[in-house]
Amino acid sequence: MQGTVRRATPDDAQSISTIWQVICAERVYTAVNRPFTAAQERDYLLSLSEREGIFVASVEGRVVGFQSLDQWARYTDSFDHVGSVGTFVLPEWRGRGVGRCLAQHTLAFARAHGYEKLVIYVRAGNAQAQAFYRSLGFVQKGVLARQVKIDGQYEDELFMELFLDQ
Ligand SMILES: CC(C)(COP(=O)(O)OP(=O)(O)OC[C@H]1O[C@@H](n2cnc3c(N)ncnc32)[C@H](O)[C@@H]1OP(=O)(O)O)[C@@H](O)C(=O)NCCC(=O)NCCS
Repeated sequence: MQGTVRRATPDDAQSISTIWQVICAERVYTAVNRPFTAAQERDYLLSLSEREGIFVASVEGRVVGFQSLDQWARYTDSFDHVGSVGTFVLPEWRGRGVGRCLAQHTLAFARAHGYEKLVIYVRAGNAQAQAFYRSLGFVQKGVLARQVKIDGQYEDELFMELFLDQ
């Protein structure tokens, strides 16, 4: 990818919302079925701790993908070493190294901020995302049956984990 990866600011909310619109319309890649609005995305960005973030990949000034890093849970500090991620790239930019660039950035940020492992949930039918996460070293740990219900159709979700000291 000929571009840059940086941490998103609230000014990126519209670009991120636009990517959600495209990916939610595709229906098959995420359990999120209604795109987050720019206002929701802005509030979300403002709510994140110093240890969390959305990282955006830009090419010639246009945001073409993003990856989020959230703490697994905030209600107890016993999960502070665990993060969860999500990755979304515009269709015309998939398979061109954007996801890999985002992951290099996010994994470095995660290590620097005390995370020891990352967890991801992926829809069972989303083979390309499973291959992507496997290529980063994620290992499948289990399957949640009928975890997603979109347009009246159930789908399982796989969960995968990556230990950052590997
Ligand atoms: C999954 C996704 C984030 C991957 O990002 P990407 O920019 O397309 O991935 P990259 O081009 O950086 O590929 C990195 C590696 O992932 C694997 N990979 C990516 N796409 C793949 C595919 N369609 N089939 C098999 N392997 C694939 C390959 O190992 C690849 O390495 P290689 O190029 O050396 O072969 C992207 O395709 C996407 O946004 N898909 C739709 C949304 C989605 O499913 N998000 C995940 C929700 S959990």
